[in-house]
Amino acid sequence: MSATIIDGKSISKLIQKEIGQQAAEFHQGSGVRPKLAAVLVGEDPASQVYVRNKERACKRCNIDSELFRLGADATTAQVMELVNRLNNDSSVHGILVQLPLPKQVDALQVLDAIRPLKDVDAFHPENVGLLSQGRPRFLPCTPFGIIHLLSRSGIETTGKHACIVGRSDIVGKPMALMLAQRDTGLGAAFANATVTLCHSRTADLKAHTKMADIVIAAIGKANFITAEHLKEDAVVIDVGINRTDDGLVGDVDFAAASEVASAITPVPGGVGPMTVTILLENTLKAAKLQTA
Ligand code: GUN
Repeated sequence: MSATIIDGKSISKLIQKEIGQQAAEFHQGSGVRPKLAAVLVGEDPASQVYVRNKERACKRCNIDSELFRLGADATTAQVMELVNRLNNDSSVHGILVQLPLPKQVDALQVLDAIRPLKDVDAFHPENVGLLSQGRPRFLPCTPFGIIHLLSRSGIETTGKHACIVGRSDIVGKPMALMLAQRDTGLGAAFANATVTLCHSRTADLKAHTKMADIVIAAIGKANFITAEHLKEDAVVIDVGINRTDDGLVGDVDFAAASEVASAITPVPGGVGPMTVTILLENTLKAAKLQTA
């Protein structure tokens, strides 16, 4: 194995320590403790784990959190009523509605109802629009976590060719926008990429990924990206979290890709911890914006 492992767990720890200090300083100066409200609808086991991890991380970082649970049979109106209550609660700075929502709930209607200043996931059309114009308020957690991972690992993106596989609203699309910007807040060295956005209808996927200096896999298919997709010494970022009979695996065949790549994120312990970390960063930012 030749690739350097990009350790998202230890990078997260470092950044969370910084956020914890900043949250404490903000509290000292303003008397306000940042607070995240997490909304969990139903009993999805993975969502329960994610929300628990987010609550624990808040505690470590001097950020208050409160979990609001609704049953699996909740209606859109009931979720909307809760979101509206949290919108109007001045002690709540960030609102996170854990996805996926049960199928009877209109997810777009719910996410659109979150007050943009409390939208710490950056899913609201106003925040997506601001990002696309290069003047972001909040940056979406997983893609911005990836930019932080690259930055803390000293892997510059300027002038490089990044190939993103997957066009979701949560990861692929905002990742493409962010990498193509002049700066996302961590300096020009960690933006300014030439971006290819591939998806399920892309013809000859390998031809695209094989040209890339950086491959970001966010497709939701276990072990999909293999050594044949990669150029020698490519940097490989694996966003996938797939539960298989062999346990938790990413979208990248880690063992095979590690032989070709220069650096690679593991699953678990790569991108996942960074998503939580940026959520905390956004919650602190939301508290500052609402306290100004
Ligand atoms: N489910 C999977 N990823 C996410 C995320 O980033 N935010 C929310 N709210 N739900 C998710």
